[in-house]
Order: sequence, then C-alpha cells, then structure tokens
Amino acid sequence: MTVTAVVGAQWGDEGKGRIIDYLAQQADVVIRFQGGDNAGHTVVNDYGKHALHLIPSGIFNPDTQNIIGTGCVVNPQSLLAEMETLAAAGVSLDNLWISHRAQMVMPYHPLLDELEERARGKDTIGTTKRGIGPAYSDKAARHGLRMGDLLHPEWLESRLDQALRTVNRKIEILGGEPVRGEAMFELLMDYRQRLGERIIDTTPLLREHLARGSRILLEGQLGVMRDLDWGIYPYVTSSNPTAAYAPSGAGLPPHCLDRVIGVVKAYSTAVGDGPFPTELQDEEGRRLREIGQEYGATTGRPRRCGWFDGVAIAYAAWLNGMTGLAITKLDVLDQFETVKICVGYRLPDGEVVRDRMPDTPLLYEVTPVYETWEGWLSDTSGCRAWEELPERARAYIERIGNLAGVPVAYVSVGPAREQMFAVARG
Ligand code: GDP
Ligand code: IMO
Ligand code: MG
Repeated sequence: MTVTAVVGAQWGDEGKGRIIDYLAQQADVVIRFQGGDNAGHTVVNDYGKHALHLIPSGIFNPDTQNIIGTGCVVNPQSLLAEMETLAAAGVSLDNLWISHRAQMVMPYHPLLDELEERARGKDTIGTTKRGIGPAYSDKAARHGLRMGDLLHPEWLESRLDQALRTVNRKIEILGGEPVRGEAMFELLMDYRQRLGERIIDTTPLLREHLARGSRILLEGQLGVMRDLDWGIYPYVTSSNPTAAYAPSGAGLPPHCLDRVIGVVKAYSTAVGDGPFPTELQDEEGRRLREIGQEYGATTGRPRRCGWFDGVAIAYAAWLNGMTGLAITKLDVLDQFETVKICVGYRLPDGEVVRDRMPDTPLLYEVTPVYETWEGWLSDTSGCRAWEELPERARAYIERIGNLAGVPVAYVSVGPAREQMFAVARG
C-alpha cells in the first residue's frame, strides 16, 4: 500500500496537475483534499490540454477512482461546466465522486468575495474571486451547505433559509443586492438531479481501498506559502494546502500517509498580492514570464516571477515532511546565461535567516541573499533521464534538493506527460 500526498511547495502553480496526471497512471484512487475551483491544474496528455479546477487530475486514467474530498469547497455550476468540457474531449467521468461532506460554493459566495475585496480598499488579497474565502468562512460559522444536503430537499430548504438570513445581511452591509431563496432552491434541485448519483459517503470506499492495499494519491491545491496557517497571512487562501491536512481533507486516517512529494518550480512565481521576496520586476522577470508562459490557469492574470527561493523550500520541506521533490519547468531556464538561488533573507538588522520563515510584515523588508550559478545554455526539453541532463543543470537541481534536505524524485522539462522522468538512484 502507498498513500502519497502531492503538495505545492511554493506559492501555487508549481505543476501539481501534471505530476498527478503522471503518477495517476499507476494509481487506484486520486483525492483532491482541499480548495475549490480557485485551482487551475494544467494537464497535457493524449486528451489535449486541460486546466482542471475541481476534478482530480487522475481523471484521465479510466481505471482510477477520482474523489473530490471532504476538505474541498465545490461550486456545482463550475463542476458541471468542467465535466462537460472533459466529456466533450472523450474523457470518461464514470469514476468521478464527490464527498457528501464537502462544502458547497453557493452562487452568493463569488459575489461576497467580490464585495469583500472591494471593501479592503487598496489592501486587497488578490483572490481568484471564486468565493473560496466566503465559502470556508460559512463552513466555520456553521451556516455552510454541504453537497450531501442536495440529497435531502427538506433539510436543504431549511439550511438555505437559515444561511440566507445571515448572508443577506452581510451582502447588504457590503453594498450588494440581497439574493432570493426560491430561485436558488430551484437551482439546487437542478444540481441534485445532475450530480446526485456522484455524491457519496467516501468512507466505505476508502476503507476498502486501504484494506486492499491500493495506491492512493492525495492532490493538494495551491502551495504552502498561501496556507491559511503557515503562509503569508492574510494574503493566503482559506484552507490548508500542507500535507498534514491531506489525510483529514481526503478522509483517511493520518498514519496511512507514506510519502509526501513536494512540487516545486525551478524558479518562483506567485499570483495575487502579498510579499514575495525574490520577485524580479526587471527584464529577467519578464523573460521568466514569457518563456515560462506564466499566466494564471484560472484567471489569466500575469504571474509575478522571481528566482528560486531556498528559504521557502527549506520551510516547505520541513513543514510538509516531504520525502521527495518533483522539480518542474527546468527547461524554462535553458536560455539564461546565469541563474540565481536565494539562500537566505537579510533582515533590516543585518541578520541572515535561512532556516525559518519570517512573519508577513518582516517579509516586505528582507533582502534576498543570492548564489549565482552559470547557466547550462542548452535545450533540456528532450531529456528523458537524469544522465541526459547537462551537468550544470544537474548541479542546480542537486542544490535545490540540498537546500530542501530532500532527494529529488522527479524532474520535468516540458508540459507534456512524456516530458517528465523519475530520478533513478544508484
Ligand atoms: P498547478 O496549479 O500546480 O497544477 O500548475 P499550473 O497548471 O497552474 O501551472 C503550471 C504551468 O506550467 C502549466 O501551464 C503547465 O502546462 C506548465 N508546465 C508544467 N510543467 C512544465 C515543464 O516542465 N515545462 C514547461 N515549459 N511547462 C510546464
Ligand atoms: P493552484 O491549485 C496560484 C491565490 C490567489 C490569492 C490567494 C487567495 O492552481 O496552484 P483565493 O481565491 O484562494 O481566496 O485567493 O491565493 N491563489 C492561487 N494562486 N494558484 C492557485 O491554485 C491559487 N488559488 C488561489 O491569487 O493570492
Ligand atoms: Mg495552477
């Protein structure tokens, strides 16, 4: 049996979707354990190019069970749209399931997200406006609706009624138009009809898989630096993308986690606001963005780009208990004469921090301490094994593994499924 969590080790968009797609060729079950349709997990394989938002990235293997787990917030409207796109591309949805305990993103949540961002004035978070924060807030405030509520119309109606009493007051305070319950109930009945048979109690299924020794992947959304507790609060998402939450959000006992793969880009990117110590606002940053095509898979926003951050990876590796790293987008650095790695943050008082993450206000004031590496200046996109990589690229990757204190298990050199390989250890 192996249960493997695959988590983002930076600010999101590390390439988690493509790693899951690759690993899912050998997986019996893939479970998304947190987040919602704020995710944009890009997968490029025989079915074409797909940006997945809610559906687990194991969906392209027809033998894999794909579960949207309890820790997720599900927007039925966007799930149905995603299902339609995949079905049109010939992808089977027979093995797609939704935990009945997963929260529902209601039509008023994106509206609240928008109104809350507006109310923040110039101090925005830069959310994806998918209603993720408001949906998790309602979950914690205990007037959230769950996917399983769709299966119990009377219960659903009274839950909706209760939720709207608070929600509408909030909408009005923030200057929006209150929403009406009757029309919304009808919409929910439509979702019940179209999604009802996929909404299940995942526990019996997962107990059986664990007993059978199945291979299970837990798919994280975003990355540790946007974790609600461990990220750059308040510029974070409203759930926990770190591995400790993976079993809970997926619906498995914690001791069953065997491996944690941290997905990490060969440089850094972030989308949304907040401090980003290695950000490059110059020509090199623009080059990284253009060569790496760093534009959001969900919102299309240009991503902020910078050099690799060794302080963040050390923090991410320890906090997640990583057992291996998957390094993506190495090929993007192929044309750079020199590449840099941040190995410390210099605080205003001169202290250099390497093994902890300073709190958010301090992060605005740190100066990165860089190592400069000679670039390898050759095309890696055709490499299919560790030995085929240029020596300088291997040294760069080894340095990343060394800063993380974790072996490099996989390397990717292009977006397609075949442009990735496992690093064999002699
Ligand atoms: P995720 O949210 O972590 O799944 O990552 P995204 O899909 O948002 O962003 C990763 C982007 O990089 C996508 O456009 C991928 O197709 C692309 N990508 C992934 N791995 C590689 C790689 O090794 N090389 C290149 N050039 N692109 C990659
Ligand atoms: P994947 O799974 C990159 C960022 C937003 C914002 C903050 C909070 O594709 O890596 P939210 O809408 O969650 O309330 O926004 O988090 N963010 C992401 N950044 N990739 C994502 O997902 C993201 N999901 C949210 O830009 O800064
Ligand atoms: Mg993404």
